[in-house]
Amino acid sequence: MSVLVEKMEAALEQSLEQLAAAGSAADIEQVKNSMLGRQGFLPAAMKELRDVPPEEKPQVGKAANIIKLKFTQALQDKTEALASADAQSNAIDVTMPPRRRYSGHKHPISQTIDDCVKIFRRMGFVTVEGPEIEDEYHNFDALNTPADHPSRDSQDTFYLLDGMLLRTQTSPVQIRVMEKQDPPVRIICPGRCFRKDAPDATHSMNFSQIEGLYINKNVSIADLKGTLLTFAKEMFGDKVQIRLRPHFFPFTEPSIECDVLFRNFKGGEDKWLEIAGAGMVDPNVLKNVGYDPEIYTGFAFGMGIERMAMLKYEIPDIRHLYNNDTRFLHQF
Ligand code: DAH
Repeated sequence: MSVLVEKMEAALEQSLEQLAAAGSAADIEQVKNSMLGRQGFLPAAMKELRDVPPEEKPQVGKAANIIKLKFTQALQDKTEALASADAQSNAIDVTMPPRRRYSGHKHPISQTIDDCVKIFRRMGFVTVEGPEIEDEYHNFDALNTPADHPSRDSQDTFYLLDGMLLRTQTSPVQIRVMEKQDPPVRIICPGRCFRKDAPDATHSMNFSQIEGLYINKNVSIADLKGTLLTFAKEMFGDKVQIRLRPHFFPFTEPSIECDVLFRNFKGGEDKWLEIAGAGMVDPNVLKNVGYDPEIYTGFAFGMGIERMAMLKYEIPDIRHLYNNDTRFLHQF
C-alpha cells in the first residue's frame, strides 16, 4: 500500500483519539484545524498527492476522500454530543423545590385581635372603637377612680398639654357607649393603650387591650364566668380550665382576675396565668352614665392582647412584637 495512504490513516486514527478526548468546543476546533486547517494535515497530503505515480493516483485519491469523510463525520458527531450534554447540564430541574416567596400577612397582634373579635361576636358582642386621646373624665372619673388613685399620677399616665391624656386602658369606651345608648349593651372594644412603663420583657409603653361590657336586667357573675370560660376554651383549646381570684378595680364590685390553667407550660409544669381583669360593673359607674343600678346590672372585663398573643404563640418577650424584625414576623 502507498506510503501516503498509510500516513493518512495514522493521522486519522490520531485525530479520532483527540476528538474522543475533547471536552470543549475549543478542543474540537483545535483538532479540526490540525486536520483541515490551512496548515493542517489533509491540505498538505493533497499536495503530496501530485507526486504520486499516475497509476496509483485514483486509488490514493479515493482513500484520501474516504479519510476526509470519516474525519468530518466524527467531527460533526462530537460537536452534537457536546452541545446536547451542555443543554442537559443547563436544563431546569423541575424536581427542585421552588424558592420561597413571602406574601404579606397580618401582624400577630392584629391576628390575635381578629381571633378575639370572632369569638365574642359569636356570643353576641358588637365591636366598637373609641379615641386614643381621652379626657380625664372618661379615662378616670366616670370609671369611679378616686382623685388620689396612683394610676392618675403623671409618672404613670401620659398627659398632653391641653389637659387631655393618652388613654391608659380601653375602659373609657364603656362610658362613651353607655352615654349614647340605653341598655341592653353588649360590646367589645379592642385598641391601643399607653402607660409610662419602663419597657421590659412583659411591659411596653404602648400596648393593646380588648374591653368587654354587658349590661342588662338580671346579669350575674355566673354570666361573666360563663363568658370568660367560653372565650378561654375557644382561644386556647377545649381542655383549659379557668379560675377567678378576688381583686380590686375602681369600676367593678366585686372585682376579679381570671386565670387560665396552661398544661405543660413551655414544656414544664402546669401553670395558672392571668388573662383578664373583670368584675360586676360598680353601681357608681352605672349612675355616672344615667343607668338605674336598681334595674340594670352588668359585667365588664379587660384583657391584654399582647399577653394573649404571647401565651398563644409562646413569645418570650413583648418587645419582639414591636421591633418589626421580619425574621420574627415571618414565623406567623
Ligand atoms: N382596665 C383594667 C386595666 O387596665 C382592666 C379591666 C379590669 C377592665 C376590670 C375591666 C374590668 O373592664 O372590669 O388593668
